[in-house]
Amino acid sequence: MSNYSDQIKATYHQYVMPTYAPQQLLIRGKGAYVWDADDRKYLDFAMGISVCNLGHCHDAVTRAVTEQAQKLVHVSNLYYNEVNPRLAEALVKQGFDAKVFFCNSGAEANEGLIKLARKFGNETGRNQIISMVDSFHGRTLATLAATGRSKYRKGFQPDMPGFVQVPFNDLEAVRQAITDQTCAVLLEPVQGEGGIIPAEVEYLQQLRKLCDEKNILLLFDEVQCGMGRTGTFFAFQGFGVEPDALSMAKAMANGLPMGAFLVRRKFSDILTVGMHASTFGGTPLVSAAALAVLETFQKEKILENCRDMSAILRGKLEKLIKPYAFAKCVRGKGLLMGIVFDRAPGRLREILLEKGLIVLTAGETVLRLLPPLNVKEGEIEEAVKIIGEGLVQWADEIASAK
Ligand SMILES: Cc1ncc(COP(=O)(O)O)c(C=O)c1O
Repeated sequence: MSNYSDQIKATYHQYVMPTYAPQQLLIRGKGAYVWDADDRKYLDFAMGISVCNLGHCHDAVTRAVTEQAQKLVHVSNLYYNEVNPRLAEALVKQGFDAKVFFCNSGAEANEGLIKLARKFGNETGRNQIISMVDSFHGRTLATLAATGRSKYRKGFQPDMPGFVQVPFNDLEAVRQAITDQTCAVLLEPVQGEGGIIPAEVEYLQQLRKLCDEKNILLLFDEVQCGMGRTGTFFAFQGFGVEPDALSMAKAMANGLPMGAFLVRRKFSDILTVGMHASTFGGTPLVSAAALAVLETFQKEKILENCRDMSAILRGKLEKLIKPYAFAKCVRGKGLLMGIVFDRAPGRLREILLEKGLIVLTAGETVLRLLPPLNVKEGEIEEAVKIIGEGLVQWADEIASAK
């Protein structure tokens, strides 16, 4: 490890709050690769947790940000800017007849959905939201209360009231949980942090019906699974079930902080002037980056590539894990892919990092792969080769520990 790397890490630990446990010091990135302080190259199949979906430092985004930074960065939402209306239009034209509120992160986008649901419910004396076991919606107090993964709530009690969790993919559980206080159901169409678990189509279809019958809002958290990650622009399009509102963030501006929630036209006047705001929401700078992202989706046929590469990656992984009894299956949708093990794969993740591949974990037993959506077949082959070598080493270590 370089002296420089040691210095930066020491400064970090002295001055930055200890809420993270970072690994490598990464200096630069291009496409599917990043380099550390010793100029070691890594293939990045985490992409900043599904943020840099077009790869690191995509030229179109860099150009848009550079040009906009020289023109106008921020004016507040007390004035129009020429970029965010165009971005809102471009998002809606991806196939959701809605209006857009811009913010800065996934948690903030979900807070918006929760406020929308509360306002909708308050008008008819209701304030309860049903969310899912093993869900993840963010780290603010309201989104934590919605989050099913209870370990994230530990130590921050009391939970904000107004939320109840039911098992995912279980329609009867939702039906049982609905009371005269229920105003919304919130879920991820593909649970990310919870272990890469896709919703069943039939479940979502029935849930849509149930919400309509009971005049309850159906809210989708597409923060991780949206923006093309699962092979369609909006994740809901892959299930053919439209929500009443959805949140997005992460990959919107390919690395610049941006979030949004989109509300079906029918409900888009629930929040009106003065009811919700965010100083930095939809600045010209991040909106220009996000517009460049959407243009690139079109130009480079990103969704098609995501679907093609998903099939290739899944096929290769399924073949690769067959000989290992501790590997259970490959699951996910598009390029939100998980390998499910019978134990925590933290050690495998470390081994892969040592071998030059960056991946993540999810849930308790899942290795999570989030390649860029413009990943090339050669990069998939390279990743699969490294995972193959990693599995051999991990299996040896498990065998010798017995
Ligand atoms: C599904 C989902 N919702 C919300 C969030 C929170 O997003 P942020 O960290 O931008 O607040 C995440 C982050 O991982 C997420 O995966």
